[in-house]
Amino acid sequence: MTILNEKEVFSTKELSQLFQLGQEDIIKVITEKHIAQQNINGEVHIKKDELENLINELWLSLGISHQYYEIPEHLKNCTSPWAVTLIKMYQDKFTYPDSISPEQGDFLRALVCNVAPKNILEIGCFTGVSTIWLAAGLEQIRSQGTVHSVDLFNDIIPVLPYHRGYLTNPLEYAQKSVDAAQLSHRVKFYKKNSQEVGAKIHEFLSEPIDFLFIDGDHTVEGCLNDFMLFYPHVSVGGYIILHDINPKYCGWYGPRYVIDKLIKKSPHFDLLEIKTNPINYGIAVIRKLAEDRTLLLRGQLTKVGIWQKIKDKPLGKFLRKIRK
Ligand SMILES: C[S@@+](CC[C@H](N)C(=O)[O-])C[C@H]1O[C@@H](n2cnc3c(N)ncnc32)[C@H](O)[C@@H]1O
Repeated sequence: MTILNEKEVFSTKELSQLFQLGQEDIIKVITEKHIAQQNINGEVHIKKDELENLINELWLSLGISHQYYEIPEHLKNCTSPWAVTLIKMYQDKFTYPDSISPEQGDFLRALVCNVAPKNILEIGCFTGVSTIWLAAGLEQIRSQGTVHSVDLFNDIIPVLPYHRGYLTNPLEYAQKSVDAAQLSHRVKFYKKNSQEVGAKIHEFLSEPIDFLFIDGDHTVEGCLNDFMLFYPHVSVGGYIILHDINPKYCGWYGPRYVIDKLIKKSPHFDLLEIKTNPINYGIAVIRKLAEDRTLLLRGQLTKVGIWQKIKDKPLGKFLRKIRK
């Protein structure tokens, strides 16, 4: 996802990089559809509030279609406000494939019902789909628990071929959806970088985390940082859930790296890798059996090792660029 919040105008060159489309296609649509443009230093620019219009026209002219998750019958038949809200969210253009699918959501909801956590911490809520699934689990068992949900909540802009929808103010969207799902008493949102929350965790949470869902920065460094920051605050017996563990399908390497380097080798965790539908992005269910006193050190060492190897290679340069 690309950070748009601070930008008010975009050159066609920037848009061509974001959308991974030819600049000439973009200029053609701007001209033909009379989209308001500005000339800055001899280059065509458009304002942020014209972006949605441009994207719709571009998609139409290039025959790019939106995709949606199929809604399972049992969800369609469920009359709970959270189910009705989720179905609406799954019909929005930005939900596929960034949000967890209904099948994965159902899995998380059922897990919450069984584990009955008090404090759920979610890193990466996007527009709130996974947040609602988690909170629905708490609601079903009438737990007193809360989902604490952290995200940067930057505007969402399409990056083809992955994201095709456009949304400004995802925090407002998430909050409204949680209200419509009648789950606002179960959810607290934090518009923050997870690293900031992790560094000052006691300002946000007064009790240990017993269910940690990590679905935020999926780069190796980002996921490793999140894991190492929050792992010490997960209670023994608590659960850590990683999303997007199969790079082959999701294209991200962070969660797999954490599993292979820190979890598999430690006797202090139970690990179960779950295949997911309709795309096998995969979910790992990790149970913290005991404190692993070497974990943070191992994490630091592997971090130094990775950076030395990749920091000046294309992947390292790319990671540094998108971290800014
Ligand atoms: C794949 S989306 C999460 C999808 C969401 N769990 C769902 O199923 O609906 C990843 C999210 O992580 C957030 N994110 C990435 N890096 C972050 C960071 N350092 N701190 C907080 N949120 C972050 C992004 O803003 C994005 O919304």
